[in-house]
Formats: sequence, C-alpha cells, structure tokens
Amino acid sequence: MDHITPDHDLPFEPYRVKVVERIHRVPREERERMLQAAEYNVFKIPSSAIYIDLLTDSGTSAMSDRQWAAMMTGDEAYAQSRSWDDFESTIQRITGYQHVIPCHQGRAAENLLFGSLVNETHVVPNNIHFDTTRANVEFRGAVALDCVCEEGLDPLDESPFKGNMSIEKLEAAFAKYGDRIPFVMLTITNNSGGGQPVSMANAKAVRAVCDDHGVALYLDCARFAENAWFIKRREAGQEQRTIEEIAREFFSYGNGCTMSAKKDALVNIGGFVALDSEETARGLAARLIIQEGFPTYGGLAGRDLAAVAEGLREVLDEEYLTYRIEQVQRIGARLDDHGVPYLRPAGGHAIYLDAKSMLPHIPPSQFPGVSYAAALYLDSGIRACEIGSLMFEHVDPDTGDMVSPEMELVRLAIPRRVYSHTQLDYVADACARVRDMGERLSGVEVVWQPAALRHFLCRLQPAGGGALINT
Ligand SMILES: Cc1ncc(COP(=O)(O)O)c(C=O)c1O
Repeated sequence: MDHITPDHDLPFEPYRVKVVERIHRVPREERERMLQAAEYNVFKIPSSAIYIDLLTDSGTSAMSDRQWAAMMTGDEAYAQSRSWDDFESTIQRITGYQHVIPCHQGRAAENLLFGSLVNETHVVPNNIHFDTTRANVEFRGAVALDCVCEEGLDPLDESPFKGNMSIEKLEAAFAKYGDRIPFVMLTITNNSGGGQPVSMANAKAVRAVCDDHGVALYLDCARFAENAWFIKRREAGQEQRTIEEIAREFFSYGNGCTMSAKKDALVNIGGFVALDSEETARGLAARLIIQEGFPTYGGLAGRDLAAVAEGLREVLDEEYLTYRIEQVQRIGARLDDHGVPYLRPAGGHAIYLDAKSMLPHIPPSQFPGVSYAAALYLDSGIRACEIGSLMFEHVDPDTGDMVSPEMELVRLAIPRRVYSHTQLDYVADACARVRDMGERLSGVEVVWQPAALRHFLCRLQPAGGGALINT
C-alpha cells in the first residue's frame, strides 16, 4: 500500500477552493506599455495588469469561509459589541496579556504605544526595527537601535534563528545608554532581516537582560505564529508542543505587543496593542479615543474585529503553517535547482533574491534590484519589490556622502492562502530566466523623486535613456 501517502505528510494545500478571482496575463506588448507608463516603478502598475502579485504579504491574505461568515454576523454596535468580546478574549487567550487596544493596523499600534512611552532622550533597541517602527521611534526624536545577532547580517549563513537579538549588543547598549532605554522590542519574525525567526531561548535571555535593568520587553508580533512554527521545527525540546503553547510561552517573556493583524491574523486590515500593565493601557485607551475611536473598536468595523478573531484562531493550525512555510521553502528549493541566489535560509513569509550577485555589472547607484524587478514584470507579469539602494540609500550624517545598504535584494513576499504551488513554480522559473538575461539588463536612473520614501512614487528610466533589456 505504498501508494497511500502517510498521514504525517502534507501532500497538498490543506483547503479546497470556494471562491475564485480571475487573473490575466496581459500580452507582452501591453506589459511593456504598462511598465513605461509606470515609469519603471512597479508600485504604479495597475493590479489588473499583474499576473502574480508578490509585492507584499501584508493585507493580501485570502480569508476563509469562516472569516467571511464572521464578517456577515459582525456586530456593529458602537460600544461593547459581541465582535469586540470575541476579539478581546481571543487575544487575551493567545497572548496572556489582559489589556487589549484595537487599532486599524500595525503602525497605528506603534504610534499609540510609542506616543505614550518614548521621548527625545530615549534609545529603543530591537533585533531589527521594521521601517514603520523605526519611523515611529525617530518621529519622537529618539534613536532606533538594531541589535540583531551577527549571523542575521550574513546572507549566506544557514543558522536556524537568524532573527535572534545579540545579547552582547543589547548589554553593550545598556552599558552605553543606561536609563535612556525605556523598553526593548523584539520583532517576530524579523521582517527586515529576511523573515528569520527568534528562538524561545533568545526570548528568555532578552527577558533576563530586561529584568536586570528593570525595563519592559514588547514584541512586534505580526508573524508570531510563523515564528512559533519555526521554534517547533528547529528548537530542541519544542517538537511535541502545540503552536498555541509555544506562542503563549513566547508571549510570557514580554510585557506586551504591537501587532499588524494584516499578516498572521489572515485579514486585509486590523491591528492591536496588548499588554499587562493596566496603567499603560489606561493611557493608551485615552489616546485611542482621540486617534482611532472608542476602545472597543479602535478604527475597525465590528466585522473586521470578528474576522481578526477568527483569523487568529485559524493561524494556530499547524497544518496550515506547515503548508504556508513549506510553500516559501519550496520556491527556495526550485531556485536552488536553477542556481538563483537568495538570502538564506528561506524566510517564513518571503524569499529575498540577491540582485547584487546576479547583476554585478549594475552599480548600486543604478539599482540592480529595481532593474531585476522591472524585467521580471516584463518577462512574466510578476510584481516583486526592490529592497536595496532605491529604498534604503541614505546620507551619512558624518561625511555627507550617499551610502548604499549592504545588500541589493528583490523580495518575493508570498500572500497567505492565495497562490498554488504551480503558480509559484512559474515564479521561480521566471526568476531564473531574468537571471539569465545577465549583462543584457541595464540599470535604471531616477528622473524625479519625492523628499521621503522615494521608492513608492519616484519616476525612473533605463540608465542613459536606452532600453531596459538590450538585444
Ligand atoms: C514586523 C512589522 N511590524 C510592523 C508592520 C507595520 O504594519 P502595518 O503595515 O499594518 O502598519 C509591518 C508591516 O509590514 C511589519 O512587517
């Protein structure tokens, strides 16, 4: 009977399709027109002209039948709705934190928490601050300090927990800044470092340092369930536990969290702060009423709260997580077959292609990642996102010179429950074709850019005004 798949294997996606959304591959000439009209900035291409959209995993999940059902029965009462009860009690159960503050998305949660706790004298350590977290710290005149472990900075290192905080760097930060550190943050998984996980042992060690210095630890937990899955698979002694048990223990090392529910809560909008300090929670609720809304909806409709609660229950399903993360790893394996380089190991929610090593003839000033992403769209209608010099080039405050980031990456962020294995095989094969274009691919130059966050809106053209792909 060896043709029967053993029960512990997952032969395919753990769901069947109930609703479909038609996608189209517009013809090549049309893609050329679209790319030119978007001035080589893929953010400006209409989604109707995108065949496979891997721009982000945020707010792009497919909701389940149960989530849609919960939306239909959402309670839209202004105060104390049933949907709020479900939202609050689900978050209390999973995190163990008793005070829940609803927000419309992750950065609103950060704004609330940091607005209460951070001032211009402060330094806030994190493994790596996500851009919105960094911006929310810096907006208050404080310093956002990254303390990720050294392995997390090496794209070829295969260590299992490259999202870990370096305890040495954290201790050094306390030695240097002392009382200027109001609390510590830990981002799970570490999005800006390639979607890499943080181990339970590391969370415990970070907590011990925080206790020594009498400060709180907050978790930026947008992908807490994916992080728990990695702990179950990679950390000794965790294999027999459920995802919920692992997540619950992880949260117990923190004093609270901010969450963008647009990731692991499997919804298109939503977020929250949860914490154990009643006093801090009271302050946040007062600010919430000014910024977002009454404390039992916080900028969300009742139906949104209901969908988040259901999504948080569903994301704890280990079969779902296995399918989810193995889908990302499967793209990695296919890229390996093609010899396409990417940041290793594959992250929980995305693959980060190494454009610098694929296009060594394009200097950072001509944005190899942008050029690669534009060619990927032209080749196959796939939208990916440059994470390199266009996004992160900055002025060195000491020398006044422009400094490029260490890596020139192209992120393939995988929406949850959206694309099939076959569709993602198509993506990996397209990535190899674009890599094979090699020196035929030209760099790009900026024609116009806004003062901040230029990658969203800037106008570009192939360097020297020629073609993007030379024959
Ligand atoms: C780790 C992390 N924190 C915070 C955020 C911000 O969340 P939002 O986009 O919901 O404001 C994101 C979004 O990508 C994230 O990945």
